Amino acid sequence: MTPHLFEPLTLRGATFANRIWLAPMCQYSAVDGVPGDWHLVHLGGLASGGFGLMLAEATAVVPEGRITPQDVGLWDDVQVDAWRRITDFVHERGTPIGVQLAHAGRKAATYRPWSPTQGSVPVDDGGWVSVAPSAVAFPGLAAPTELTREQIARVPGDFAAAAARALRAGFDVVEIHAAHGYLLHQFLSPLSNLRTDGYGGPLENRARLLLEVVDAVRAVWPDDRPLLTRISATDWTDGGLTVAESTRVAADLAAHGVDLVDVSTGGNVPAPIAFGPGYQVPAARAVRTGARVPVSAVGLITSAEQAEQILAAGDADVVMMGRAALRDPRWPLRAAHDLGLPVATSGSAPWQPQYVRGAWH
Ligand SMILES: Cc1cc2nc3c(=O)[nH]c(=O)nc-3n(C[C@H](O)[C@H](O)[C@H](O)COP(=O)(O)O)c2cc1C
Repeated sequence: MTPHLFEPLTLRGATFANRIWLAPMCQYSAVDGVPGDWHLVHLGGLASGGFGLMLAEATAVVPEGRITPQDVGLWDDVQVDAWRRITDFVHERGTPIGVQLAHAGRKAATYRPWSPTQGSVPVDDGGWVSVAPSAVAFPGLAAPTELTREQIARVPGDFAAAAARALRAGFDVVEIHAAHGYLLHQFLSPLSNLRTDGYGGPLENRARLLLEVVDAVRAVWPDDRPLLTRISATDWTDGGLTVAESTRVAADLAAHGVDLVDVSTGGNVPAPIAFGPGYQVPAARAVRTGARVPVSAVGLITSAEQAEQILAAGDADVVMMGRAALRDPRWPLRAAHDLGLPVATSGSAPWQPQYVRGAWH
């Protein structure tokens, strides 16, 4: 019997060979938003790992939406050409690749994680003043300016323009980043959104910008290509976004043409997160059952048995791997081997011909 992990999944016109997907992971290694040799080697190497889908890192839709000055982007055509080189290489390995479109809002313009200096990058060191639904700083970062209605009105078009470039760059999937305390999550959460206009207050208003972004992206993203959205289903703290609210948002996302909700948690405010194996899986299950939408689960999913059990239990439709894939970039091939998937049926865990000897012993 084929393990659940290696059953194909079809979303719209795309069939993914298996349900082990690479989570988006920032590399903070671009110049002017342009992915370079690092990104080609990083993603190109992972493309031989057997993932059913790879998601490229948070990719800024406008320069001021970068988390760090070294983030990649899709706001100009130089970036389109640079991404194309990468998607072509990944496709030659037989693996589909998506891009996560992002705007960091009040968490923009920070030093990258390994910089000797941390926190907000001052304007005279290449930083910029960030924007947010309200002029409330993320603790430890510089205060953002509150977006005007005119500025909010430009956000959906910025995401749509980046999605149109993603198509030309050869991506198979777009994921909208509405998690981890970035701009769209800042709107969703009452802890960061104190607006009193139509974009703040009740959930319907807090979700308005996200749904406008989804509509704008769906309008330019081809009907036969899947659209995903990553959410942080809970802020893990009193007064924050709850799993019940996020489940309602997920149902709205599906109604607006999102094909799979990628369920993460946290990141909008410092909070006591109960880290542990599969710690976000219950949130994924709640969204899946409550909103009746396909979901992915992510977060400390590290062994093949654990991942298989999540799918077997109906907690999620897909598992995503982040850090485990950094340690072990061909994690899916190892899982296929560990679960005894015969090489003969390994269309669902494709070995590159150069590596196929690794399947046998
Ligand atoms: C180096 C690194 C970069 C990350 N960058 C992103 C990102 O660009 N977008 C995002 O949604 N999550 C990002 N994450 C979170 C991962 O996608 C994932 O949700 C998280 O690491 C938990 O899964 P894991 O335990 O399998 O690593 C990043 C994580 C790491 C370790």
